[in-house]
Amino acid sequence: MAVTIKSPREIELMREAGRILAITHEELAKNLKPGMSTWDIDRLGEEIIRSYGCIPSFKNYNGYPASICVSVNDEVVHGIPHKKHFIDDGDIVSLDAGVIYKGYHSDAARTYGIGTVSEEAKRLIDVTRQSFFEGIKFAKPGNHLNDISSAIQKYAESFGYGVVRDLVGHGIGSHLHEDPEIPNFARRRKGILLQPGMTLAIEPMINAGSCEVAWMDDDWTVVTEDGSLSAHYENTILITENEPEILSLS
Ligand code: MF3
Ligand code: CO
Repeated sequence: MAVTIKSPREIELMREAGRILAITHEELAKNLKPGMSTWDIDRLGEEIIRSYGCIPSFKNYNGYPASICVSVNDEVVHGIPHKKHFIDDGDIVSLDAGVIYKGYHSDAARTYGIGTVSEEAKRLIDVTRQSFFEGIKFAKPGNHLNDISSAIQKYAESFGYGVVRDLVGHGIGSHLHEDPEIPNFARRRKGILLQPGMTLAIEPMINAGSCEVAWMDDDWTVVTEDGSLSAHYENTILITENEPEILSLS
């Protein structure tokens, strides 16, 4: 599948999807507290998304059973919400959400520390977020995809962290996952030349320890192989003639 260039109308719809997703994350952040179950987080997230007339894009996606992926501590991504999984003071919690507005997708993730978290955990969260911003400094026409990937890797690894290889970012639009794949690590080939109108979900997944991950028996939850903490940060962005526009952040 070729990488698509979105029309002005498509971009408008993706802006609206992104705006609603940004609000969803802000509302979830305000409501996160120790003692809450990951199930409660999912219920609240879905309620917010639907209150804006949007569809939670993850629900039933390839059989995924919830609207919000909730991944705690050593869980990297795609954690499944459970009624009896309570979040505790000191946990780090990654929330990944997707919305569909009039047929167009937006995808974004944030990682939060709950209550009092270790300095080590705080640094992992901050570096993961910053690695996204280091990457999108290169999200401009004239650059290649690999410029974004390399910048993310270089920044995260300079802190001794492991950059997850088994999962990548992606193009996004009328489908949640479109071409191109967007690794958070350098590849030998340059990758596509970036062009205005491309919409990309860039999502560094960074481990405090090794980059290796494993899948749990639920076939969804991805965990770090060494049990170290992991953080995730993602936004849907638009390549423009100048600076990229971050669609899922207000
Ligand atoms: N943001 C993730 C991704 O891009 C989550 C989607 S997977 C789902 O792959 F199944 F949980 F929806
Ligand atoms: Co994504």
